[in-house]
Amino acid sequence: MDRRDFLKAGSAAAASALAPVGFGEVQAGDGSSTAASGRMILPINRNWRFSRPMAATATDAAHGKDFDDSGFDMVVVPHTNILLPWHSFDEKSYEIISLYRRKFKLPAEAGSQLKGSKRVFVDFEGAMTASTVWINGTKLGEYKGGYTPFSFELTKYVDFDGENVLAVDVDSTERADIPPFGYQIDYLTFGGIYREVALRIVPQTFIENVFAQPKAVLSSAPTVDVHTYIQHGDGGQAMTLLVELLDGEKVIASGTAKIPAGVAAAAEPMEHVVTLEKLGPIKLWDLKNPNLYHARVTLQQGKIALDQEMRRFGFREAVFTKEGFKLNGKVIKLRGLDRHQTFPYVGQAMPARPQKQDAKILRETLRCNIVRTSHYPQSRHFLDACDEIGLLVLEEIPGWQHIGPLPWQDISVDNVSRMIRRDWNHPSIITWGVRINESRDNHDFYVRTNAMAHKLDPSRPTCGIRYFQSSEFLEDVFTMNDFGWPLLPPNHDAYLNTEFVGHTYPAKSIDNMERLTEHTLRHARVHDQLASNPQYAGGIGWCFFDYNTHGDFGSGDRMCYHGVADFFRERKPAGGFYKSQCDPGEEIVLEPAFHWARNDESTQFSKAVVSSNCDNLKFYLKGQLIADAKPDREQFKYLKYAPFDVDLTKVDLSSLWADLRIDGYIAGKQVISRQYSGHGLDQQFAVLPDDTTLIADGADTTRVVFRVTDEFDNIRPYAGDPIALTLEGPAEIIGDNPFALVGGTGAIWIRAKQEAGMAVLTAKHPRLGEQKVTFTLTASEPERA
Ligand code: GAL
Repeated sequence: MDRRDFLKAGSAAAASALAPVGFGEVQAGDGSSTAASGRMILPINRNWRFSRPMAATATDAAHGKDFDDSGFDMVVVPHTNILLPWHSFDEKSYEIISLYRRKFKLPAEAGSQLKGSKRVFVDFEGAMTASTVWINGTKLGEYKGGYTPFSFELTKYVDFDGENVLAVDVDSTERADIPPFGYQIDYLTFGGIYREVALRIVPQTFIENVFAQPKAVLSSAPTVDVHTYIQHGDGGQAMTLLVELLDGEKVIASGTAKIPAGVAAAAEPMEHVVTLEKLGPIKLWDLKNPNLYHARVTLQQGKIALDQEMRRFGFREAVFTKEGFKLNGKVIKLRGLDRHQTFPYVGQAMPARPQKQDAKILRETLRCNIVRTSHYPQSRHFLDACDEIGLLVLEEIPGWQHIGPLPWQDISVDNVSRMIRRDWNHPSIITWGVRINESRDNHDFYVRTNAMAHKLDPSRPTCGIRYFQSSEFLEDVFTMNDFGWPLLPPNHDAYLNTEFVGHTYPAKSIDNMERLTEHTLRHARVHDQLASNPQYAGGIGWCFFDYNTHGDFGSGDRMCYHGVADFFRERKPAGGFYKSQCDPGEEIVLEPAFHWARNDESTQFSKAVVSSNCDNLKFYLKGQLIADAKPDREQFKYLKYAPFDVDLTKVDLSSLWADLRIDGYIAGKQVISRQYSGHGLDQQFAVLPDDTTLIADGADTTRVVFRVTDEFDNIRPYAGDPIALTLEGPAEIIGDNPFALVGGTGAIWIRAKQEAGMAVLTAKHPRLGEQKVTFTLTASEPERA
């Protein structure tokens, strides 16, 4: 959570000691308050006017103040420039230059009395791919890049009392001058202002950024260097920087720095470091207990607090060694998945809740301990969730195989800087990916990206994702996409496998079970080999879920079916393998990689592969024990929890065919039991919302999963029925209606409108009845600008 969330959290949170200060409520170090100082963050996500390209939007007038945009759509960001089917569409449909316009008036307390004392910025968290911004008809410039944040200063042009108009041309074409474009890429980038936007009103001299860098965290005397970046305005008087460390709401350490008078205004912010010592016992951030602290910095002039900022961070030591990856001195074998940030229907335009849900699925359902944000910086909400639930992150710059000419490389080096300066406080991030994924060597370029990363953040190692081992090693960790089998031996001390399986064995959830079983085993085999040698820090498999791609990749329907989960985040059997690698203390797992059907294999059912962290599994038919199985140690010598591969060819299934029961045992004690119907009938229709309370801000969204199951809740993989949907109340359906199940499952999303109340979704299966879900839509403060 950062300052924006605090401000959005409403008055209760704003009153707490953790709240950053707004206008007129700045607290000086001695607790006194002063008026008319501080900063104001004004989200402007609602009330945008949007138009797809037409003759009128390409004119100068369209970017001016008086243009009549009343015929445009009224939209809320995150926004996609076109709603799409979940697959089989033409990417040209979003490759457009669209126009967004947003009128705003600054609140009264930010009005003309502050002219001269305040600066006003507009902050975009992400718009795909190039954005040209105007304020009141004056063009401010173009920002090139879809995955990194950017700001424009409005101070000179803004009307502090009257109405203002921001206009943004968002160019969502694949521009060869901007990473990742210039060649092919195996994913889609979509279009629109797809992350949040805010106005930021700050004093002339203000806090531009804060980096809290813990040191000696495993010693008896940990410290934290708090780097505060101050953007100085003209004619500065002497100031004091107060830096406080907060555990919850309690200040547990503080320090100050003096800033002399007469610091001249400069284009770049000035860095001031305050080291906080004598912190007392510190709770480390780790995977089980992701303890978080806050650094609060206040810029003071005498008793007046000019500005205040807060950043969340954690104390942990993360290093790559020849013995593997160590978190807080303990080796942790990395086990994770690559994640694209795309969703069905809306591309990348999803707000906080579904972003956080992805992190939860990775950590709490698939039991991964690491994710790679392939192939670009992802939503801050996703990263916040990783901090909160203890999921490690490899974050990398935008790019895919292609390196463009020098100006393109300049943008890429700048991407390194923007990524790190946005995300350096996340304890979950353990390495920065500073190469273009799978590109060839380019000495000069990669010397620059590494230097930038090391200069900004000496506390984290760099890496860069490669496809050949002889590649020049300029980073700290050698990260390699090794799709071969067996895997190559590590050729550097710090060595991490960052992709495998993927396109070498696509698997759809509607595929024959033999393929899905083999898909599971391939992931298991790779992790087994990775377990064989401590020098492999671990493996990040390709990939978390199926994703949209260009026509020259994938399965011919603009999809790569490479996920261990489908596009709706419903897991395939391979997802069960990842899950099964957790400690039974976390969850006892028993996940078959087969579908209980008598004759769906080439001859008849013979091979029951199960991913499980149990010691042995007993299989029963009609109450008769038909197998007592141990993990398959012949095939999987090194995995802590080897899958079970049970041969049932000798079982007389024609006489015994019935419901299958599998009991799992640990240390001789039965700990789990699962059943699989032998009836071969679709029995139940389930509707499973991730959440039933949404904030009525026009953006908040949650997923609703549909499943057709047997009587024991197992998905019936060949159910493809249409689910007819009706929604009453102030919310909308994102998705197809009717929705045709894929592999017995699938999902739509429900997005709140801006009106509080109740919404009721009715989902009707043609034969298995209907289910209703009621959503509570809680009131949200209107935006103030
Ligand atoms: C890799 C690439 C990924 C994806 C994957 C498919 O080479 O880095 O982005 O395309 O192949 O298996």
